[in-house]
Amino acid sequence: MTDYAGKVAFITGGASGAGFGQARVFAQAGCKIVIADIRPAAIDEAAAKLRAAGAQVHGIQLDVTDRAAYARAADEVEKVFGDPPQLLFNTAGVNAFGPLEKSTYDDFDWLLGVNLGGVVNGMMTFVPRMIGAGRGGHIVTTSSMGGFFGSAAASIYSAAKAAVINLMESYRLALAQYNIKVSVLCPANIRTNIAEATKLRPANLSNTGYVINDDVIRSLHSIHAHGLDPLVLAQRTKEAMEADQLYIIPYPEEKESLARHFKQIVDSVLPMEADPEGARTRTEALRNWMKDRQALMSNGKNG
Ligand code: NAI
Repeated sequence: MTDYAGKVAFITGGASGAGFGQARVFAQAGCKIVIADIRPAAIDEAAAKLRAAGAQVHGIQLDVTDRAAYARAADEVEKVFGDPPQLLFNTAGVNAFGPLEKSTYDDFDWLLGVNLGGVVNGMMTFVPRMIGAGRGGHIVTTSSMGGFFGSAAASIYSAAKAAVINLMESYRLALAQYNIKVSVLCPANIRTNIAEATKLRPANLSNTGYVINDDVIRSLHSIHAHGLDPLVLAQRTKEAMEADQLYIIPYPEEKESLARHFKQIVDSVLPMEADPEGARTRTEALRNWMKDRQALMSNGKNG
């Protein structure tokens, strides 16, 4: 997609950081912007900046883990702008670091709930509406480099981000027939306020196994102070969307570690000589099953 004029872009986490960068870039490109974020004051501030730059903006306070509120937000967008979004940015995210073995259920529920559950809710809310509108579109979900690597400290966050990568690979295959493109943005360091995410943790999930205090937050800020400018990240994201890239990774310093990681996986696969007959039989069985499934589906049965 290169013609953005008048199209609705729905951006979760749009009041800050990466999401606000996306709001600025796609407003500049001509989109009507919806900022959906959990923090109302930050929404007002972000919306005022965008309006001052001439953008058409609507702010909605939304906790992405709240499914009923998500459905209401989608109705509100259609009421305000007349159309469901053609651009969906699942960008909201939170993190917390600590030893995996000290994690509590609250740590799991909060980190998986926002970073994975929030994305699931975005897709479940908007995909049927986008298909129904029949005009195609583009969905960009923000994962993280962490989604490619296990980590002893960012474990739950990374697990959620890994699931998000895999889910977007699947959605890309599933939605191609509707001309809805899907990309997954996997940033390394971004210059944002994510170090403050712990302040958004709900009271009912506040029991953490990690040490989180002002010193920890300060030290996290010191990394993110050197991150990629969110505006530049959003510009690179837009270019990658226009090139219809599935993975968006504008971080040259990550190439080597990704190559090492995937080489380790590929090197773990037995060579064909180890079991040629078994490999042939299994591959054929899979191919036949796929043919059967295709036939079942074209007969109207849900394979
Ligand atoms: P940020 O903290 O500046 O912005 C995140 C926004 O999401 C905030 O405005 C916050 O209010 C909102 N948010 C948090 N929980 C929410 C919820 N339950 N419902 C709705 N909105 C909620 O952080 P940043 O860095 O811009 O984060 C954006 C995305 O980028 C996240 O998915 C994060 O995991 C990802 N990311 C960030 C990296 C970094 O270095 N900052 C690196 C890799 C990925």
